[in-house]
Amino acid sequence: MALARIGGRGPSVTRLGLTREEEAARELVGGWLAARGARVWTDAAGNVYGRFGGDGPAVLVGSHIDSVPQGGRFDGALGVCCAVEAVETLLEAGVALRHPIEVVGWTDEEGVRFGIGLFGSAAAFGRLPPKAAERRDASGVSIAEALRALGRSGDPTEARRSKDELVAYLEPHIEQGPRLADRGVALGVVSSIVGIAHGRVTVRGRQDHAGTTAMGDRRDALAGAAQMMAALEAAAGHRRDAVGTVGEISVRPVAKNVVPGECVFSIDVRAPDDRGVDVVLRQFKQAMRLISDVRGLRTSLDLLAQVPAAPLDDGLRGVLRRACAAVGIDAPELPSGAGHDAQNAAHAGIPTGMLFIRSHGGSHSPREYAAPEDYALGATALAIALRELAG
Ligand code: GLV
Ligand code: MN
Ligand code: MN
Repeated sequence: MALARIGGRGPSVTRLGLTREEEAARELVGGWLAARGARVWTDAAGNVYGRFGGDGPAVLVGSHIDSVPQGGRFDGALGVCCAVEAVETLLEAGVALRHPIEVVGWTDEEGVRFGIGLFGSAAAFGRLPPKAAERRDASGVSIAEALRALGRSGDPTEARRSKDELVAYLEPHIEQGPRLADRGVALGVVSSIVGIAHGRVTVRGRQDHAGTTAMGDRRDALAGAAQMMAALEAAAGHRRDAVGTVGEISVRPVAKNVVPGECVFSIDVRAPDDRGVDVVLRQFKQAMRLISDVRGLRTSLDLLAQVPAAPLDDGLRGVLRRACAAVGIDAPELPSGAGHDAQNAAHAGIPTGMLFIRSHGGSHSPREYAAPEDYALGATALAIALRELAG
């Protein structure tokens, strides 16, 4: 709840990556870790770490501290809180650490401001897209400038870690979907994470007078874009388990009596396997070209990021299932339709596991909710898993 007050209004939280609000959240989490005896630092991408124990490769545990605009209190934040709580439990129980434990709060997982999702973990695991630091937000500020404004060097690639520094990565997170709630189970173990493609479509038409340009003479960028959006919905809808979303749109100029000359919109395409993402993207691109030809538009698709689907580590799935059983939960395994920093860790070759905590009211919305008794179980199961891995 203390985290939720940073950028929060009631249950609604707006704490975008690489902003002052996220920095304040980082300081709060760093303070919690320092108070429990961790060595605390932040890296060039803005990730905050707290390390407990001595030398050698560590078990990394945590989640992200940014949110979407008008999001909820639990996405990301709950995982960081559970990680701090779980480590505190081990310390209080006097568990000697065979491997050090590092708690992490990742920066800008949502990628709202600059378009690069999983930003902090991508920097840490060497998976940033080329020239990431040059990407700009809607007001023209680059990632390098945003990092420098927060006191960092401006080069997020300096945050890169060697795979050899880590023995495992665990991420607790709210489920963000209804499956655990539907089954009446508090905890679940993630089997795999969806593949995700993010892109930006720019449609250029011709700006004209809305009263004097006959319907047949128009090159309306927005009307064409609307058809393309419907095509994306159809392409994803035809494939089982695929989803396609347009969540951002801008039109130029913005005036009710002007035929729009330009429209830029985002696409978010996901499927449990990379082939599914490719098929939906291919069908969307075909529709984009056809609609552009028929309407006399010039359209381009800029693929901002593509994160392959990530199966999670078999051994850690077992560790997490056993830990859930130890708190009395027969945890089902389920795939994640949301993206997670765990994907970058898994793709970097680090054994990676995720623990889901039941949530209600969906996610990426102020309705998102997890009950204290559920996240208490989650934190306890996490502590048990950490003891098995590091104790
Ligand atoms: C993050 O929540 C995502 O799935 O995009
Ligand atoms: Mn999210
Ligand atoms: Mn999240």
